[in-house]
Amino acid sequence: MADWNAWHRNYDDPASGLARRLATVRAELARLLAATEGRPTRLLSLCAGDGRDTLPVLAAGHDNVRAVLVEIDAGLGAAARAQASQLNLPDVEVRTADAGVMDTYADLPPADVLLACGVFGNISDTDLETTVGAFPRLLTPGAAVLWTRGASTGDDDPTSHPGDAAELVRKVFTRHGFVEERFIRPDDAGFRVGVHRLADVPRSDPTGRHLFRFTR
Ligand SMILES: C[S@@+](CC[C@H](N)C(=O)[O-])C[C@H]1O[C@@H](n2cnc3c(N)ncnc32)[C@H](O)[C@@H]1O
Repeated sequence: MADWNAWHRNYDDPASGLARRLATVRAELARLLAATEGRPTRLLSLCAGDGRDTLPVLAAGHDNVRAVLVEIDAGLGAAARAQASQLNLPDVEVRTADAGVMDTYADLPPADVLLACGVFGNISDTDLETTVGAFPRLLTPGAAVLWTRGASTGDDDPTSHPGDAAELVRKVFTRHGFVEERFIRPDDAGFRVGVHRLADVPRSDPTGRHLFRFTR
């Protein structure tokens, strides 16, 4: 299985695509949260890693936001918790749990902003469909999903979509009642960042408990 601690060290090179992706995600999240100012807002981050895309944005002054970060790796979760404490963010809960099962969210109110960054490149096309199809069950009407996907499909990429895998992600969101708000595709980097807004009622199986399992 992938060493996700080592993966996070790729952020250290400021010239890397991952570092650029991080800046883009933070900017998009800041934009989304700025629009919620003054309104109680729930944020949910799936497969949150050490929370670096979310915690500094919250620390910039969004005390209307309550956040839950779900990360399965205990070490990365502990790092996120320590960072939340250091940044004085009492309304952040870091949950060491499987983000790929609905049970993990059973006690949570619907979210207004959901992050799925670094997720879709690690799951099968079937799980992508199931996961996006289940998102409306986790969201308020009009909620935003901020997601990422790498375009390149190496040998270990779980998609069977030919070409840019982010195009498949866009189609799947559209199929499940979301409207695209942003799609960022740099010419000189392989990452893509999207924001989709829930515009419609769920059309998929409303009862399934499984969302996804990482293939690596
Ligand atoms: C590619 S990293 C992305 C981390 C973070 N979202 C980011 O973009 O910086 C994927 C993360 O998902 C976590 N992960 C893998 N399977 C998971 C699961 N079923 N539930 C929760 N986290 C999971 C890994 O431990 C890893 O931290």
